[in-house]
Amino acid sequence: MPDTADKPYVIDPMLSAKTIAARIEDLARAIRAEFSGSDKLVVVGLLRGSFVFIADLVRELDMNVEVDFVETSSYGNTMESSREVRILKDLRGDIAGRDVLVVEDIVDTGHTLAHVLHLLASRHPRKLRTIALLDKPSRREADVTADWTGFEIPDEFVVGYGIDYAQRNRNLPFIGKVRFTGAGAAE
Ligand code: IMP
Ligand code: MG
Repeated sequence: MPDTADKPYVIDPMLSAKTIAARIEDLARAIRAEFSGSDKLVVVGLLRGSFVFIADLVRELDMNVEVDFVETSSYGNTMESSREVRILKDLRGDIAGRDVLVVEDIVDTGHTLAHVLHLLASRHPRKLRTIALLDKPSRREADVTADWTGFEIPDEFVVGYGIDYAQRNRNLPFIGKVRFTGAGAAE
């Protein structure tokens, strides 16, 4: 796979920080309702892309939460998804009999979420639900849908709000799409 990370690009704004914050308030309300009977919710972030989303989301959840993380293999420096998902870092805690919410940044082909859900379901949580900030339904290959989605977006490569391109731009407070500039931009 070619490494395209050295091509110049600009970032066209797509979702503002304000828009994201407002949507997270709605999502948090739905999650609180779904888990109103639980004494503790285990919120599992998929590293690294979900770290900003999970930080904002748990602060809107007025309930007892535990935060844990799973890290899966990533794209490397390319924009291509890989169908083979590996677990690089597993949960620290036991989730048997617990209420679990998996937090993903983007559901793209769906292979990552499908793999993680399969793994966590095998550990017999009491309830297992998923939330994704972004969804690119047109890219789906695996049969998986998050229980809650922040925004459906077209097939564009996006960065910001925790999401990277070759480890860059995770610290942007908004989400924007990557647009290549310069020679060969249209190829
Ligand atoms: P999957 O194809 O659904 O397995 O997506 C795997 C991962 O690819 C997501 O969790 C994201 O971290 C990453 N990803 C998918 N689309 C984008 C994008 O547009 N920008 C940056 N990362 C992405
Ligand atoms: Mg990810």
